[in-house]
Amino acid sequence: MLAIIGGTGLTRMQGLNVISSNKADTRWGEASGEILKGQLAGQEVLFLARHGHPHTIPPHKVNYRANIQALKDAGASAIIAVNAVGGIHPDCEPAGLMIPDQIVDYTYGREHTFFAEDLDEVVHIDFSWPYDEKLRQILIGNARSLDLAALEQGTYAATQGPRLETAGEIRRLANDGCDIVGMTGMPEAALARELDLPYACVALVVNMAAGLTDEIITMADIEKALHDGMGKVLDLLQASIKS
Ligand code: HPA
Repeated sequence: MLAIIGGTGLTRMQGLNVISSNKADTRWGEASGEILKGQLAGQEVLFLARHGHPHTIPPHKVNYRANIQALKDAGASAIIAVNAVGGIHPDCEPAGLMIPDQIVDYTYGREHTFFAEDLDEVVHIDFSWPYDEKLRQILIGNARSLDLAALEQGTYAATQGPRLETAGEIRRLANDGCDIVGMTGMPEAALARELDLPYACVALVVNMAAGLTDEIITMADIEKALHDGMGKVLDLLQASIKS
């Protein structure tokens, strides 16, 4: 069963016919909210709002371990994560999509592994390619079929937040080879890999990153891009659930 983790702008899954709603308590603590199980596009899916519903948990306070464990416990066999991001690569534009294929992690102080205590042996997962390529290709194929312009590869910089970056920090991320920047891509992706859950990301660009335009970044601009772009994300999710 596919699970969807909704980010900023996706705290409710439009079109989901809810069958059950379960409070998700795990050995790692409570997930961000109830895990909804329902029918979408004729398939059973799970949905979890990463920041809670209403949207009140900031990126650095999300219990990523509980979220991933709760989805696994609820029967998830794969995860599509939706992330609002800033665009760094010049091909990015507000309300545009990217299906990234790489991650650079700049977060700190987050509980980022299931393998820290009570171990029989030390565990090092392979994370060379952090996103599941089969799942990525499903998303890319459906974006093409739906005629949705989506950048089909790129590197996601995961920053700590909750503040946005300085222009200098964005210059550094660009020098590091990063194409988009968000605050929630890690440790979520690594935790999914630790539990053997194929995981891919649909990134919705909601602003150009700091210093890349003459304007400062306003919540009003971000909300407009969320509004303009989330329909495309929903279409892509619906198509991908069927695949
Ligand atoms: N930076 C980090 N995270 C974000 C941004 C950004 O510019 N926009 C949306 N999430």
